[in-house]
Amino acid sequence: SKPLSIAVAGLGTVGGGLLKLLSDNAEVVAARAGRPITVGAVSARDRNRDRGLPLSSLRWYDDPVALAADPGTDVVVEAIGGSEGPARALVEAALRAGKPVVTANKALLAVHGAQIAELAEARGVPLAFEAAVAGGIPAIKALREGLAANRISRVAGILNGTCNYILTVMREEKREFAEVLAAAQALGYAEADPAFDIDGVDAAHKLAILAALAFGRPVDFSAVHVEGIREVSALDIALAGELGYRIKLLGLAARTPSGISARVHPCMVPVGAPIARVDGVYNAVVAEGDQCGRIMLEGRGAGAGPTASAVAADLIDLARGRVTPVWGAAAGALDAAPAVPMERH
Ligand code: HSE
Repeated sequence: SKPLSIAVAGLGTVGGGLLKLLSDNAEVVAARAGRPITVGAVSARDRNRDRGLPLSSLRWYDDPVALAADPGTDVVVEAIGGSEGPARALVEAALRAGKPVVTANKALLAVHGAQIAELAEARGVPLAFEAAVAGGIPAIKALREGLAANRISRVAGILNGTCNYILTVMREEKREFAEVLAAAQALGYAEADPAFDIDGVDAAHKLAILAALAFGRPVDFSAVHVEGIREVSALDIALAGELGYRIKLLGLAARTPSGISARVHPCMVPVGAPIARVDGVYNAVVAEGDQCGRIMLEGRGAGAGPTASAVAADLIDLARGRVTPVWGAAAGALDAAPAVPMERH
């Protein structure tokens, strides 16, 4: 049957990784999607950079926003990043044009998720974002679909691969923060601006998205307390180790009697706890449902393959016509009674 033709904005780790996956796993993807998924149009800052991808036959756009109007495109993939600028403009333009959007952009969703979801739902256009949280872990599907029948009391996890990688290497190799950061950047884990990773902002974006899904309320990034790992030294990590603890940057969101608390900061975790053993670029997502109990998912949270895997899963859903409401059916309904605000703690 007719291929699903996509346009990809941004050919960095995520967009480039997606093109490679769609080529390497073309048969698997076509079988699961029921039809081939092909790339028709792309946009990237530097047209001439050698990315090792066959791009010459594609329609090139210098302005990513113009992809929204590309006549041959069925679905727009936004892999530019950033909560403002061309990423936001493209997502809004595509939704207004009735084109389904797949985005990996946690910053955009954390900051403007409520308005963007409203726009998508008002127009009845799908918006999918599995890749926005925890890379290769199907965290969105797990919360929105797998745990759909639960009241969720808590969602937490290791939500930034760069920080977890840095903390792990600092511990194992007794090295200092700054030198290990450069290695994480070289591996393609860090954001374009690595301050977002190491200051906890990226983890907070993801936590805000998970909290919105878990607790069925609008995403509210401004209510998340954020602290990163800049101040953590190799000595802190060694001393914590002597006391039987690992230092992990955790995101923690819980339903409390006074509202929803959401925070990101370095934590001392007992070495015997399952989450203490999640090392390197791996992320973990923990959720507590009243029926299923505690679940923990672990997987690679950053890098080309894991992130592209999540984007492609969304594309396969769209190719199959499987569409889920943006924030899940629970949004707005579950906690409709007491409109408790998210609180800073
Ligand atoms: N910079 C992010 C991380 C990439 O390190 O987790 C995935 O969002």
